[in-house]
Formats: sequence, C-alpha cells, structure tokens
Amino acid sequence: MRVLGLETSCDETAAAVVEVEDAAGPRPLGRALSDVVHTQADVHARFGGVVPELASRDHLQRILPVVDEALSRAGCDLRSIDGLSVTSGPGLVGALLVGIQVAKALALGAAKPLVGVNHLEGHLLAVLLADAAAAPGSAESAPELPWLALVVSGGHTSLYAVRALGDYRALGHTLDDAAGEAFDKVAKLLGLPYPGGVHIDRLARGGDPSAIAFPRGLSKRRRDQFDFSFSGLKTAVLQHLREHGQPRGQALHDLCASFQEAICDALTLRAVRAARAAGLKTLVLCGGVAANSRLRALAQERCGAHGLTLHLPAPKLCTDNGAMIAMAGAQRLARGESRPERLAADPGWRL
Ligand code: KG4
Ligand code: ZN
Repeated sequence: MRVLGLETSCDETAAAVVEVEDAAGPRPLGRALSDVVHTQADVHARFGGVVPELASRDHLQRILPVVDEALSRAGCDLRSIDGLSVTSGPGLVGALLVGIQVAKALALGAAKPLVGVNHLEGHLLAVLLADAAAAPGSAESAPELPWLALVVSGGHTSLYAVRALGDYRALGHTLDDAAGEAFDKVAKLLGLPYPGGVHIDRLARGGDPSAIAFPRGLSKRRRDQFDFSFSGLKTAVLQHLREHGQPRGQALHDLCASFQEAICDALTLRAVRAARAAGLKTLVLCGGVAANSRLRALAQERCGAHGLTLHLPAPKLCTDNGAMIAMAGAQRLARGESRPERLAADPGWRL
C-alpha cells in the first residue's frame, strides 16, 4: 500500500510517500519513497518559540510545494497512491486546519481514501519505517509487539505500552514541561537559537556531565509510578545562572552536559523501570528528543544492563515528518478507516 502523509500540527510543513508492506497485518513495514520537511525554525526564531498565527500562515504558503515535491521525489502522482493520511490532532488548531483542508481537497479530487491520524501515533509508529539509508525492504530492525514506547517531544513526554497497533496504554506522563520544552527553555536562558535541543546536544559533547548536580525530578516517587517532572530542573538551571552568570567556554559545555544528563537519566531510568514492571522486553524511543545523542547512548546502556532490546528510529524520523503520519495512516486505511466527511481538527486529541 502506498500512502501520502501530511503533517502540519506545529512548525514543520511535511509530506511523504510511504510504501507499506502488509499494512493490514500485525507487523507492517514501511519505506519512505520521499520525505520532505520544511521547517519554520527561522520564522519563529526571534520569538524564542512557536507563534501560532505565523505557523498557520507559513503552512499555507508551503504546503502545496511540499506535497508536489514529495510526490515528484517518490516518482508518483495522486493517481498512483492508494490513500492519504493527515495529522488531525493534537496540535495548533490553525496549523492543523491547513493540512486537513489540503488533504481533503486532494483526496476528493483524486477520489482516494483519507484518514486523520493522531500525531503521537505517528511518533509511536515511526519505528516501523526502514531507515532510508538502508537497503529497500530491509526493516528487519522493526520491533516485535508488544513494546514500551517513550514519546519525548516538544509538546509531550509519555510512556505507552504498545500491545498492538491501535492499542496504546499510557503508563506515565510529564506533570509539567515536556522534555523538549525543557531543552528549548534552557537553551533560551543560555541565549541559544530556537529550537534549542539540538544546540544543547552539540555543546554537551565537550562537557562534563557530572560538573553540576542538577535535580532529577520526582526521584522520591514510588518505583511503580512513571510520571516525569522537568520544571524543577529548569528552575535549578535559572538559579545556577543567577548565581554564576552566563557561562562561557568550558563552563557552557559543562552546564549543557549536566543539564542534558539530568533529563536523560530521569527519562531512561523510568522507561526501563516501566518496561520491567509491565513485563515488556522491548523499549522504543520516539519524538524529537529521541534524536538526542546522549539519550540514545544512555538508553542503550541501560537496556543492555537490564536485558531489554532497544529500538531507535533514525534521528530524522524522530522529529516531526510526513513519513510517520503516512505509516500510521496506512495501517488504519488498510483496516477500512476512511471517513473524510467526519474529519476535523482535534487540537487536544489524547491518544
Ligand atoms: O517531535 P518534535 O519534532 O515536535 C513535537 O511534536 O513537539 O520535537 C521537537 C522537540 C524540540 O523541543 C527540540 O528541541 C527537540 O525535539 N529536539 C532535541 C534534539 N532534536 C530535537 N532535543 C534534544 N536533543 C536533540 N538532538
Ligand atoms: Zn511531534
């Protein structure tokens, strides 16, 4: 099955064509024939965060060229795809509406089925996509169900037990900031560009992660509770800056490494505990923060120590993209879920 996926829930305008094998089966495998992402980072950079109205306007300007490019890079047109999928929530309502309206028009014009998917389901299923760098069809690294997913993005930090496709049980959430939000806010305090996660990741490489003992958040909670909290960590960084001033040189590397270590430690500790408590043998990381190099390395270390298998989507598939939406859409379209007349933006949609 060949699906065109559209994503406009926040500040990336993205479209991709994905070829999915065994889309109706228990273990579908996808391969992106194209994956076009236009990021609005420049539009929002000077505001230090996403401005919803500017996001909607930029999506309006970019969406059609992005879709055209996704189709042409995949060497196909609307007639040669089997269906479309679009993110219909959660996200910014104006931004979601741009993708939804375009998807509806394309589906209607080409008489193809269309399904709205949850952005978080897209992140969860990105791991079913073969790395584009790998040989076609070689997605043998896709995990076997059931697995535990740690979704860490700019808007969400949650643990889900994935028992089957479409069967997701939340085991824990952040009680305040999402992990990506904490990265971006601390980056802003340090005067780094938006979005700051990737800059902290880069600066942390030359730093000492044990230089500053930042708090881990909720560390005194019971071992069978899997929620997260990052607001105390953010305040601790602010306090440190007030006392020591803006760090330069090695001190900046050390601060970034220490802050990053605190987040990655809290995330991996709870993820591994939750997997063991739920009797799940496989851990999957997904969402933009799963592109973080230290998180990937620490998760590997801890999974190894506890006999868990770790699966990581390619970093490009962790941040927002159209391929993950096409992948999530394919298995729904294959089950006959196409009701474009009922499709509407659902900005607060919980998985
Ligand atoms: O999944 P995503 O692209 O968008 C949302 O659904 O939110 O995640 C974006 C978040 C941003 O907060 C960004 O700073 C963070 O992911 N991020 C990273 C890295 N790459 C992206 N955080 C830490 N290290 C990275 N390498
Ligand atoms: Zn996302």
